[in-house]
Order: sequence, then C-alpha cells, then structure tokens
Amino acid sequence: MFCLALGSTLTMTGRPASASDPVPVETPVWTGTGSCAAAACHGGRREPIGLKGSEYSFSEAYDPHSRAFSVLYNDRSLVIERNYRRLASLEAARPFEDDTCLRCHVHQGYDARTPWSRTPEFAVADGAGCEGCHGAAGKWLVPHMEYGWQGLSDRQKYEVFGMRPTKDLLARGQSCTECHVGLGSTDVNHDLIAAGHPRLNFEYGSQLAKLPKHWRVDDDKARHPDYEAKVWVLGQILTARASLDLLESRASRSIPDDSTSPWPEFAEYSCFSCHHELVQQGWASANATQLPKPGSLQWGTWSLPMAKVLGPLGPGLDADESGSTFGQLRELMSRPVPDAALVANRARAASDELGRLAESINGVRIGTGDVRNMLSAALKLDESSRPLDWDGAARRYLAIVALDKALADSDPSAPGRPDQSALGRLYKDLDLPLQVDRRGGIFDSPYRFDAERIKGDLRSLLSAHSNP
Ligand code: HEC
Ligand code: HEC
Ligand code: HEC
Ligand code: HEC
Repeated sequence: MFCLALGSTLTMTGRPASASDPVPVETPVWTGTGSCAAAACHGGRREPIGLKGSEYSFSEAYDPHSRAFSVLYNDRSLVIERNYRRLASLEAARPFEDDTCLRCHVHQGYDARTPWSRTPEFAVADGAGCEGCHGAAGKWLVPHMEYGWQGLSDRQKYEVFGMRPTKDLLARGQSCTECHVGLGSTDVNHDLIAAGHPRLNFEYGSQLAKLPKHWRVDDDKARHPDYEAKVWVLGQILTARASLDLLESRASRSIPDDSTSPWPEFAEYSCFSCHHELVQQGWASANATQLPKPGSLQWGTWSLPMAKVLGPLGPGLDADESGSTFGQLRELMSRPVPDAALVANRARAASDELGRLAESINGVRIGTGDVRNMLSAALKLDESSRPLDWDGAARRYLAIVALDKALADSDPSAPGRPDQSALGRLYKDLDLPLQVDRRGGIFDSPYRFDAERIKGDLRSLLSAHSNP
C-alpha cells in the first residue's frame, strides 16, 4: 500500500511560496465524488447530520450541490441555454455540455478540452462535488488516507497537496464565492440573467446556514466562539472581493477591439436602476429598453460592504465617502461609459486591500461589544440618500439576523435583541416569488416589492428595539 513519503514530497514541491509562484503549483487533477464514496470512506450509512464516514451518502441525499448537474436537464436550463446562445429551438439546447454552465455546476475551471485534468473515474453527473469545496484531490486523495497525514498542518495540506483548509472560515467562504459570485471569466452576467438564470445574491452567513451540513456546526462554534459574527463580517468582505475580481475581469475582457463582452456590464448595477416598472408588473413588462440618465445607475447595491454597519471593523470601505477606494470606484462606475482600463486597475487595488483586511479580521476575535454596535447600526441604518430597493432591504435583514444570532450565542437573554415577530414580517415581505415571462423563461423577481411596507417593517423593528 502507498505510504506517505512526507519528507521527500515536501522537499520536492514544498518550496516557499512567493507571488510569482502561486500555490498549488501544477494544474489540479479532479478525481470526482465517486472516489470519496466507498463505504469504508465517506459512503457509510446515511445519518441525519454529519456523522463521520457518511459525508457522501448524506450529501447525495440532501446537499443541493449533488443536483447541480442534473438541473441542467430541466426546462429552466433548456430555456436559459436557448435564450443565451440564441438557438432556434429548445431541442437544440444542450446546457449539460456547455462549459459555461459546467464551470459552476460541476467544478471551478471545468474545461471539456482538458480531459487530462480529470481522472477516468470523474463523473460530471455528480454535480458540484466534494472537491469544489475541499480542493481538487489529484494530489491528496491517496495521501489523506495514509499514516502521517494527520500530523500535517492545514497549510501543508493546502500548499503541498491542494486540500483546502475548510475549517478556516475565510478559506471556506472563498470556495463558495468562486461559484456563487463568479471567478474571472466564469460569470453570471446580465446576458445570462436576462436569459433566465437566477441572479446570484451570495450572502455567506445565510447560504452557510441554509446548506444541509455533513459536519457539526457545534465544532465550528467551538473553534470560533464568534462564529456567527465572523461569518457575517467575512462574508461582507468576501462577496465584495469576489465581485471586484469579477469587475476587473469584466472590464478587462471588454477592452480588446474585437471583444464581444458587454460593457458596462448591467449586472454590476441595481436592477431597479433600469427596470422601473418592476414593482407592479414584473420583469416581463419591465420598461428597460431605454438607458437611464447618466449618474442614476446605482453600482454595487448587492456587493459593496455595508460599511456603516461594519463600523471600525471595516475602515475605509464607505462608498459614500468620495475619497475612499469605493467612493472613487462608485464615481467611475456611475459614468455612462466607465473607462474600462481604469476600472480594472482600481478594482484590482480595492480587491487587494480587501484581501488584507479579510486576513486581519480572520485573525482576531470579534467581541460582544462590536456585535452590539453592528446590530444597532444595522437597525438604525439611514439610507435616505438613496431609494430603498430590494437589495438594500434584503441585505439589512440578513445583517440583522446574523448579528442577532451572534448576540444570542454570547447570551441568549441579552437585552437589545430585535423583536422576532417584526423580523418574521420583514422576511415575508422580502419574498422573491418566481415569475414566468413571455419567452417561457422563469425569473426570480421581487415584483411584489413594496418599499413603503418594508420601511414600515424596519421602523417597527427599530421601535421594538429601542423600547423593549
Ligand atoms: C458563476 C457560476 C454559474 C454559472 C456560470 C452558471 N450557474 Fe447556474 N447557478 C449557479 C448558482 C450558484 C446557482 C444557485 C443560485 C441560488 O439559488 O443561490 C445556480 C442556479 C441555477 C439554476 C436554478 C436551479 C434550481 O435548483 O432552481 C439553473 C436552472 C441554472 N443555474 C442553470 C444554469 C445554466 C443552464 C448555465 C449555463 C448557461 C448556468 N447555470 C451557469 C451558478 C452558476
Ligand atoms: C459546499 C462545500 C462542501 C462540499 C460540496 C463538500 N464539503 Fe465536506 N466539508 C465542508 C465544510 C465547510 C466542512 C467543515 C469543516 C471541516 O471539517 O473541514 C466539511 C467537512 C467535511 C469532512 C470532515 C467532517 C468532520 O466532522 O470532521 C469530511 C470528511 C468531508 N467534509 C467530506 C466531504 C465529501 C466526501 C464530500 C462530497 C460527497 C464533501 N465533503 C462535500 C464543505 C463541503
Ligand atoms: C463548484 C461550485 C460551487 C461551490 C464551490 C459552492 N457551490 Fe453552492 N451551489 C452551486 C450550484 C451550481 C448550486 C445550484 C444547485 C441547484 O440548485 O441545483 C448551488 C446551490 C447552493 C445552495 C442551495 C441554493 C440556495 O441558495 O438555497 C446553497 C445553500 C449553497 N449552494 C451554499 C454553498 C456554500 C455555503 C458554499 C461554500 C461552503 C458553496 N455553496 C460552494 C455551486 C457551488
Ligand atoms: C443599465 C440598465 C439595466 C440594468 C442595470 C439591468 N437591466 Fe435587465 N434589462 C435591461 C434591458 C435593456 C433589457 C432588455 C434586453 C435584454 O434582454 O438584454 C433587460 C432585460 C432583462 C431581463 C429579461 C426580461 C425579458 O422579459 O426579456 C431580465 C430577467 C433582467 N433584465 C433582469 C435584470 C436583473 C436581475 C438586473 C439586476 C442584476 C438587471 N436586469 C439590471 C437593462 C438593464
């Protein structure tokens, strides 16, 4: 049997990392979920929650990721593909063979033209498999079963073997954003949204909470006593960072003379900037054929960090301050045709800045005082300078829920927790119902969004908070 020749492996590939030498070094090889599934490994009896050894059976039964490939055969996918590729008929649509879809619905960087990056056992049918989060297993599959593996640090497992440190909340969240926000040219842009793809509204805390888990959240909380707050704060930064990386890519791709990439990319802006009629009539009759007045496009309503809530934890992130990195980017992006080269350049710098901030926040414990301050700020937030749209209201709701959970973890009877029934009403009023449009597409649309009603919900939350 293979024996983990640790010393020699480390000297062969374990050289110190530098900027010019990104890790892991070689092209990753994906071995597929099947290689995890043996009964003695992770295919044991299915148990309700994350019993060691049953991760595969559990995921297959409950995790939506295991269905990520099979959804490409459903009607919605066929319609998306037909609209997106401008095909004559649904019969001609083959989304399950389109790399654009497979790069998120199977694994990051999937490329049909590089079969050598997958072992013969690899099966696309397994959907977004284990390796999307745990890292391509070509180099770690065998070693991780061997004597000696347990003694390695998370850093060695990642840098030498490519296994991601999923216990680390920052590294974990990064893997989610690669598919739930986008990665370079892997992009759910407005063309894909208008074709019928759901808009990606990633929020780390709620997505992690929603995901049926094959591990114990109690273990997460034992490792990170500030788990709920940490996930929310890191999520703010990670979403912004991934969105900036995507913006850099969108801008750069649009520059070459023969480029067919749209610019400015509409998905960067608040949908309501153009789809005014949305409120009563839904997307289908959205009066979006005329571009709005210059300057009226609201950039980054979903992706910019909620700087006023982050407070001192997120210094310099406030896009309302014209001198800040984000203020400058917002100004650039609200021009009718933003200078793509300049945007790419600024987006890169802002992303790097956020990378450093994420590392430093990841290394400190967020105290109860900070949580209280953030929660009050989320409840009191005054955004009267801008119309309240679905993005703003939904993000506020998610912030309040996350920070309330964080407060409850430190002290369930803590004073100042928001009124739970008012929170419930807000959730109901934010509901995103599905819409069917004239081309047979299905859209997630806030067509019932009623800003006055939501403002009322927010006011009653605040007053219940101020007079408990
Ligand atoms: C950037 C990554 C990405 C790309 C590219 C992408 N998707 Fe998706 N897709 C997602 C994610 C993430 C979701 C889940 C959205 C959510 O609910 O938060 C999703 C959801 C969907 C859904 C809804 C699934 C359901 O259960 O209702 C369909 C259908 C779909 N995608 C089809 C496609 C097709 C067809 C393509 C290619 C033309 C494609 N996707 C390309 C990431 C992507
Ligand atoms: C959506 C991302 C994601 C996917 C997909 C995923 N995992 Fe995980 N997995 C995690 C996270 C996050 C943890 C918790 C942190 C940790 O223990 O490393 C975890 C934990 C584990 C653990 C350790 C459990 C424990 O209690 O210590 C195993 C083993 C595991 N996963 C195997 C698998 C297998 C096998 C698959 C595919 C069938 C899979 N994972 C798919 C994210 C994922
Ligand atoms: C390899 C790409 C990939 C990675 C990595 C990934 N996801 Fe997903 N995720 C998807 C796709 C594609 C779907 C849509 C599947 C469907 O609806 O059939 C999805 C669906 C989901 C859903 C269900 C849809 C919803 O919004 O209710 C949740 C929750 C989710 N992912 C959470 C996470 C979290 C948390 C992480 C990181 C720990 C993560 N995902 C990592 C691709 C990915
Ligand atoms: C700068 C203006 C602009 C912005 C911002 C914008 N759109 Fe659009 N949208 C349009 C135009 C113009 C069309 C019609 C042309 C087309 O299909 O691309 C359209 C079409 C659509 C359609 C197809 C509707 C149909 O009946 O054919 C959907 C769905 C859609 N947009 C959703 C969105 C979402 C979701 C957002 C926010 C992420 C958004 N749009 C942001 C201008 C915009």
